[in-house]
Amino acid sequence: MRIEGGRALNGVIPISGAKNAALKLMCAGLLSAATLRLSNMPNSLRDIDSQTELLEYLGATIARENDLMAINAGSVDKIDAPYDLVRKMRTSILVLGPLLARFGEAKVSLPGGCAIGTRPVDLHIDGLRAMGAEITLEHGYIHALAKDGLQGAKIIFPKVSVGATENLMMAATLAKGETVLANAAREPEISDLGECLIKMGAKIEGLGTATIRIEGVDRLHGTAHEVVPDRIETGTYMIAVALTGGNVRLKNARADHLAALIARLQKAGVDIAEDGADILISRDPAQPLRGTDIMTEPYPGFPTDLQAQFMTMLTLCEGAGLVSETIFENRFMHVPELARMGADITVHGNSAIVRGVKKLTGAEVMATDLRASVALVLAGLVADGETVINRIYHLERGYEDLVGKLSACGAVIQRI
Ligand code: UD1
Repeated sequence: MRIEGGRALNGVIPISGAKNAALKLMCAGLLSAATLRLSNMPNSLRDIDSQTELLEYLGATIARENDLMAINAGSVDKIDAPYDLVRKMRTSILVLGPLLARFGEAKVSLPGGCAIGTRPVDLHIDGLRAMGAEITLEHGYIHALAKDGLQGAKIIFPKVSVGATENLMMAATLAKGETVLANAAREPEISDLGECLIKMGAKIEGLGTATIRIEGVDRLHGTAHEVVPDRIETGTYMIAVALTGGNVRLKNARADHLAALIARLQKAGVDIAEDGADILISRDPAQPLRGTDIMTEPYPGFPTDLQAQFMTMLTLCEGAGLVSETIFENRFMHVPELARMGADITVHGNSAIVRGVKKLTGAEVMATDLRASVALVLAGLVADGETVINRIYHLERGYEDLVGKLSACGAVIQRI
């Protein structure tokens, strides 16, 4: 991707449905033999394609048209998620709970490591065991059996996990009796999934709190559900405007899901307002950005998925900012790439001190993971001269029409 830096962003950017909600909602489709109709699905994302491939492999029928997707898992006849499909995308682990709950058996490849840390799945496995599943790990696969169905259980997570909360919440919808998930994650994507499950007939209370109660039912039915707007995409464009200056309307977004980011951006000197379902963001390029600190935390804290983008912004602040990453152990891969563009960043353990510099200069850089990649795009938008980003397939996993959306606001950016 080639970017010619130094253009302010002005215009309108439509926000897509949340990738991280859509992927789990697709898995929820496995819980019922009836059709689940999803709208506001993000388009042309590699991760959604991978999940579609996996569900079709299992025997589900998937129809797509623009932002609509209909999933029918009435003819599912396989219960295994093979390595080849899982290694492309860790989220395939989320078919484990639904398959086990509906069919009494599931076999899912262990995802393995990924660029941002070891990311184990022990919390998923321990929770399903507590619900009565017999689980063995062999030949790189998790093999789970619950021939007489899953039993409700009280599960206290030793650590807050988005994926484990979602997997166990889905599994519990078809278990016998009540399941309590304590120290559960509270991300908006989990509430979105829970609301869809409720429309499918599940009995769930406490969404958005740290204690979720699920009373199992015999079966779930079909429904229609609109995917929640993508808060990480929204936050990424907010930070882009903060960096380049300008005035942008983010259409169909949820400011209430971004309170932690908005507070930090305002502290840095960015203007943010709401207008119905839109967010208006502007910054006068003549006013300098001020340095401010962030620490990533489970929701409603500052999202780890916006850490790299925020760090890019800090590279050009007046003063300095401290970035502490508490969720993933290896999520500073963007630092050496930003340094190649002139940033002044010192990493110590899980913290990084970012001292503001006068300017970044365009360079050839390498994308490493999804959010680190977009952080380099943001750096390119504001750097002097030309930036070329290699290995952009990461971006295609998670940002719908990034080039189109930024170009429409005046960026000079091109996929080559
Ligand atoms: C989800 C998001 C990801 C985001 C992350 C944290 C999706 C598809 N991905 O990932 O974009 O960065 O939440 O907000 O929604 N852990 C364990 N054992 C487990 C599970 C997790 O130790 O069984 C650890 C992880 O290594 C990590 C922490 O818990 O250190 C949080 O991970 P988790 O919340 O599970 O992230 P994901 O659901 O994988």
